[in-house]
Order: sequence, then C-alpha cells, then structure tokens
Amino acid sequence: MLTMAIASCSKVQDVSPQPAWAEIQALEPDVLLLLGDNVYLRHDNHQNPDTLAAELRELYALQLAEPNFAALLADLHARGKDVVAIYDDHDFLGNNRYGGDVSDELRRAARKEFVQAFKPVQSGSEVYRVQRLGLVDLIVLDVRFHRTSPLTAGGDRDAMLGGTQWQWLEQQVAVCSAPYLVVASSTTLHTFADEAWEQYPGAFQRMVNLLKDRKGALLVSGDVHRNAAYDDSGVIEIVSSAVARRGIVFGALRKNYGILTFDATELHVELKSLKVGCKRPVIPS
Ligand SMILES: [Fe+2]
Repeated sequence: MLTMAIASCSKVQDVSPQPAWAEIQALEPDVLLLLGDNVYLRHDNHQNPDTLAAELRELYALQLAEPNFAALLADLHARGKDVVAIYDDHDFLGNNRYGGDVSDELRRAARKEFVQAFKPVQSGSEVYRVQRLGLVDLIVLDVRFHRTSPLTAGGDRDAMLGGTQWQWLEQQVAVCSAPYLVVASSTTLHTFADEAWEQYPGAFQRMVNLLKDRKGALLVSGDVHRNAAYDDSGVIEIVSSAVARRGIVFGALRKNYGILTFDATELHVELKSLKVGCKRPVIPS
C-alpha cells in the first residue's frame, strides 16, 4: 500500500498557522506531493532576476518555517518518506505568467530558488522528473518553464512542455511498469478556472491520447482553489487546491488536501475540503 498526500496553493503571508499540514501529518503519508503555488509572490510583474529571486527566497523561508509545515517535513524526513514538489505561476513568475514569454535569466532565477527550497531530484538543470515509489511511478511535469501564452501557442502539439520535455514524457510513459502511473501537473488538464491544458488544444489532445487507454493512469493537479475529480475526456483527473488560502469574498479559511491510497487492486481517493471561520456577509441597509 502507498499513501500519497496532495496539496497546492498556500499563501503563508495570509494564512499562518496552517492547520492542514498537521492533519496530513497525522495520516502518516508515504509521500507528500506539492502541486504548485506553494508560495505566492506579492508582485506579479517582476522583470529583474535579482528582485524576483529575493522575494521568492523570503517567501520560501517563511513557508518552510511555518510550524505545521516544518513539523510535517521533519516527520516525513525522519520516516524516510518523500517530499515531491513542483511550482506553478505564483511561485515562479507571478499570476498567469509563462517562462517561454520572459528572458532566460528571469525564468532561471525562479527555478533556482525553487530548487534551493525543495531540492528536487534533477537530471541536468530541468526539474521535470520521474520518481519510482513502488506501486506508483510518479511523473512530475514542469508546465511553467517552457510554456508560452495560449495566444501564441495556438494548436502547437509541443505546447505546455516544449518539444524536449514532451519527448521525454512519451518515453517515460512507454517504459513505466508500476501498477499505477501518476502524472503531476500544476495546471489542471480540464477547465476549472482561467488556466488549463484545454487552452492548448494540440497539447491537450496529445496528453489525452497518451493517458486515456492506459490502465492505472491518472493525472493530479492543483491551482484552482478547490478539490475536484473529472474524467470526461477519458483521463481521470484529481485536483486538490487551497491547502492554506482564504476565500476571496468572505475570507473563510480553506484547508483542502487529497489523500490517495494505492494498493495492488484499488485506488481510494479522499478529498478533504474544509472551510472554517466563514463570516456572514454584511448586507448594507
Ligand atoms: Fe496557479
């Protein structure tokens, strides 16, 4: 059996303490998968690599020092378990920004801070990778570094990942032999909010074709501030987002996460979605 906790979207400058991490720790997962927006840049228009790096470094330090998060990471480490992370937009360049649309220096500065914070297993400088976890082969995609705006990508089949990462992904899917194949993407495959693979029709269809008939395959994602599950394209997608966020309208604390339990014959998915501290709206008389 393998228990995987999935989570994304943590805004430490707005939510601290972050109680969801303590709940996850109590469940003693075998792996923690952080699906991006693990911190939130305060500024979305960075052009200077040094300024961007300094802000990311400060935010990662805050997040890593948040007591519940730090305790969870320490517990996973002590038990010899994996922490697997990837960034999305808010912990890379800012809201809805893409590495393929900015200077190489800027996107490399963002990636370097992520690497220093979470120390992913790397081949070369790229952060996409495969991690073999027994029952599960986990493929972690980088859908930010090589991506451009959907307006310029059009129907390009290489969109979202770039040609080299696409080739690598298809090779990995062909050789993965574990009973389950989990593909981690910070951006959702299906449309739940303003960003999704569906905005890139060539890449979306290529991913659907790659995974839809493969037994034991699913995609996990974050970003959209809610939990969800969807399979209309033929690909199962499990979304968990807003592990430590406040709702925009009423300010309720969201502490959403997912627990995926894999055994030899069955996958059990539990999506925890709790809102506490919701205030009634004040209606002006
Ligand atoms: Fe995001």
